[in-house]
Amino acid sequence: MAEFTSKIRTIEWVDTYSKMVDQTKFPEHFEYVKITTGEGMFNAIKTMIVRGAPAIGIAGAHGIVLFAQELEKQNLTKEEFVKKLLEKSDYMASARPTAVNLMWAVEKQKEIIKNSKSDIKTLIEELKTNGKKMEEDDISINKKIGDYGAQVVPKGATILTHCNAGALATVGYGTALGVVRSAFAKDPDIQVFADETRPRQQGARITTLELTMDSIPVTLITDGMCSYFMKKGMIDMVVTGADRIAANGDSANKIGTYTVAIAAKYHNIPFYIAAPLSTIDTSIKSGDEIVIEERSHEEVTHINGKPICAKGVNIINPGFDVTPNELITGIITEKGILRPDYVKSIARAFNG
Ligand code: MRU
Repeated sequence: MAEFTSKIRTIEWVDTYSKMVDQTKFPEHFEYVKITTGEGMFNAIKTMIVRGAPAIGIAGAHGIVLFAQELEKQNLTKEEFVKKLLEKSDYMASARPTAVNLMWAVEKQKEIIKNSKSDIKTLIEELKTNGKKMEEDDISINKKIGDYGAQVVPKGATILTHCNAGALATVGYGTALGVVRSAFAKDPDIQVFADETRPRQQGARITTLELTMDSIPVTLITDGMCSYFMKKGMIDMVVTGADRIAANGDSANKIGTYTVAIAAKYHNIPFYIAAPLSTIDTSIKSGDEIVIEERSHEEVTHINGKPICAKGVNIINPGFDVTPNELITGIITEKGILRPDYVKSIARAFNG
């Protein structure tokens, strides 16, 4: 396995609270915040203090422990406690609608809440232990994704990525940037082109920051530039993350990913998605069923609090788009690289 080079731990359970990097402060500040209440965690996910599909899954799991700690103080019967905690869990899962990892992690905690025969105190310990296990699993899964992905990175490649699917979108190491890290450990000549990723600028604010912290060469481009560099032969492959992948391989990721995938297809450049199996939602047949989050208009009308357009102009702000499976060269998972026909390869990954 390639060397683990990321210095970043995005989220971690500590005794009675969740400690996380505050991603709204980038790039000026790299600060940690303590989240001590269930409502605080709901808001941290909603306002994107923590973001990225796997990271918000872990945050959701922590949030349920925080709600459990609060309910413990209300002297409820075990039955009342379970009922209220299951309601709080569903509330936590609704903080953001597109990334299925949040629902997946909440479901894992709900199974414990429903099935545990323990008293309330012990049940809370079981939920904490499960949250900590999810954290450790996330890092080891990302390293596996990284190592499978590194096998398809050409020597000295320039890899284009969109948004941030890095250590800061996970507990550590990253999915798409996990592939970059594993490839870079073997070949220091590889480099990254990062799309700015309007409107929230995760590429500019987060991807360039974390790659720079790990001394991996990165060039920032604005979203409209990718075809220009592809035509010039300056991009060898594209790797992005995903927020939800349907049973047929259609993949939702940050708005603009679909445009990059079309440009890659036109220029004959391989386009990979890197994601854990927990991002695959086998309950939906195609990407048409994925709920796309609509975010605040201010994300489009303003940059750094300053207006950039005429007052009162019409705005639409979908947070994600869906890349159809025929544009995807492979889906890099902890069980290997899934190839078309995705209906078959995804089913095999879950059953094999
Ligand atoms: O809105 P965000 O910043 O949470 O969106 C993040 C992305 O779209 C990532 O690419 C995706 O969650 C994969 S993270 C490994």
